[in-house]
Amino acid sequence: MREVLISILRDKNTTTFEFRRAASQLAGILCVETLDLFPKEGVSIQTPIGKTEGVEMPIDILLVPILRSGMALLSAFLEILQSAPVGIIGLKRDEKTAKAKLYYKNLPKDLPKYAIILDPMLATGGSAAFAVDILKKEGYKPENIFFTGVVAAQEGFDKLAKKIPEENITLGVIDPKLNDKKYIVPGLGDFGDRYFNTI
Ligand code: URA
Repeated sequence: MREVLISILRDKNTTTFEFRRAASQLAGILCVETLDLFPKEGVSIQTPIGKTEGVEMPIDILLVPILRSGMALLSAFLEILQSAPVGIIGLKRDEKTAKAKLYYKNLPKDLPKYAIILDPMLATGGSAAFAVDILKKEGYKPENIFFTGVVAAQEGFDKLAKKIPEENITLGVIDPKLNDKKYIVPGLGDFGDRYFNTI
């Protein structure tokens, strides 16, 4: 199903309606894959028939969407982590240098143990690395930082995997390269413009 949804997102003829629907369905899948990586706490359960052991999600998770495209992944995570705090990081890509620039940051005072950075497109890895550095400055250990994205370029994945454990990175697909404008090839174009219909 993941490949079907990525194919819809890649297709340049996909309408905004179809793009949003595929993005939110894929975000649900990626959310479950990400949360499956977390250590769970054991709980005893009494079913109507007998006793058994179960697991509970840890509740101390901060969701960190990177503006603006990261917002497209947020609601899928909030469906499951309904009370999770959300820390927003606004990074703008300088179109000439393709380097990330911070223009907004709003993190809660009490930081949960774990953080999941949300950003659909991991191109050069600059924004993700920047966000990881911000979280590290706030005291996060690299092993407690996770990343969820839709499409990565190999280069971006390699850069991020130097900052946080590779196993903490959940992606829909890894594409081979970037073009000279630092767009992912074949990628899906500008995720934010297609999702927010600002083409
Ligand atoms: N951001 C996008 O939206 N698309 C890319 O290919 C790279 C960065």
